[in-house]
Amino acid sequence: MKLWGGRFNEGSSKILEEFNGSISFDKRMYAEDIEGSVAHSKMLANQGIISQEEQKLIEDGLLEIKEEIEKGEFDFNIEDEDIHMAIEKKLIEKIGVTGGKLHTARSRNDQVALDIRMYLKKEGQLIKELLKDVMEAIYSKSLENKEVIMPGYTHLQRAQPISAAHHFMAYFQMFKRDYARLEQAIERIDEMPLGAGALAGTTYNIDREFVAKELGFGKITENSIDTVSDRDFIIEMNFVISMISMHLSRFCEEIVVWSTTEFSFVEMADTYSTGSSIMPQKKNPDVAELIRGKTGRIYGNLVGIMTVMKGLPLAYNKDTQEDKEGVFDSIDTIKISLVIFKEMFETMKINREKMYENLEGGFINATDVADYLAKKGVPFREAHRVVGEIVVYCEINKKKISELKIGEFKEFDENFGEDIHKKIGLESCVWERNSYGGTGRKALEVQLVNGKKYLKKIGG
Ligand code: ARG
Repeated sequence: MKLWGGRFNEGSSKILEEFNGSISFDKRMYAEDIEGSVAHSKMLANQGIISQEEQKLIEDGLLEIKEEIEKGEFDFNIEDEDIHMAIEKKLIEKIGVTGGKLHTARSRNDQVALDIRMYLKKEGQLIKELLKDVMEAIYSKSLENKEVIMPGYTHLQRAQPISAAHHFMAYFQMFKRDYARLEQAIERIDEMPLGAGALAGTTYNIDREFVAKELGFGKITENSIDTVSDRDFIIEMNFVISMISMHLSRFCEEIVVWSTTEFSFVEMADTYSTGSSIMPQKKNPDVAELIRGKTGRIYGNLVGIMTVMKGLPLAYNKDTQEDKEGVFDSIDTIKISLVIFKEMFETMKINREKMYENLEGGFINATDVADYLAKKGVPFREAHRVVGEIVVYCEINKKKISELKIGEFKEFDENFGEDIHKKIGLESCVWERNSYGGTGRKALEVQLVNGKKYLKKIGG
């Protein structure tokens, strides 16, 4: 018999139960459901709505149920529809009619909002930790490789030489923003919804502030209709996870490209690659590909819930039961992706020689030749044109710019002097780009110091 069965005559069919129920996935919020119910019962007793003895009975019963669930002795049954009903029914089974008092001044609508907010707060903190671990790994690899020079790319064409550390630290900045976004999302999740009732509040003299304090919430929600109806905080969680996943995916894409024979910038540890069943020579970067690929389902979950919400009238609608599976999946997926990414990245070997070799050809110091002229007073646009001609000349004569004699330089522009070779050497091209945020030695040092400070601030 259902708890709300009084109103209905016929037992619902099995297939309808399957369709209507959410226990198969919302059972993962059992701990939040129980913690929320204990706090609610304490509040009811404090306010004289139930007696202290009844509260004690309810609390003990709930804690027993928690233990049973954790020992794997609890029978999750689709007939109970969802985790809220399953626990309440079990409580009544255990302690009798007093169990029926727990749901006083509460609706499943505010109860489910409470559970999911508590669950997201907890998981949000875990994701923050994992994100911090990834940032630490990036920072360490950057320190190790700050002297390593590699080609920097635009349009995936060799553009200008950079420090490998500068490249890695670009991702550090992205994850730093993701971390802040996650913190801000958690701040908005951190509002206690219980007391909104079905949609309009309650006539009981409840104490919402007490419940919020008891459960560690920073605030209580302001409008009962909004409280049971909107799911923007879940959407935000999906979005923040999507953003993290997008950043991971870009990094993984580079790792896939860098581990090709053509690039050979990095070599994945054997544990993080797989062989081919047919081609014995292959070592595939499957892990990086999978993290990149999983971004697809994470985006899917975001678009899914956005679409569920777009046409819903106020207040609660059963459609919102669809809010959970997607965000649960995104949470699971990003957690494992962050853990695996960190390990893969840490064990990845950087092929410094190969990175350096790739600086040859492609006229990677062409901008510096133009800058040289511009610093001598040649308008940059004109300098750019001159260097374009030099590049064509080098291509025809199969030379690098640095191999040109001073006489050859002067034929293109009188302003070239004896110091040109030094100025366009790779070392000065990289280490002298010291504008704030640049790859130059001094600028990079500032970035690394700031990175370290940031890690310390977030508890690294
Ligand atoms: N299982 C439901 C959900 O996940 C709980 C709320 C149900 N409320 C209701 N009035 N049917 O959203």
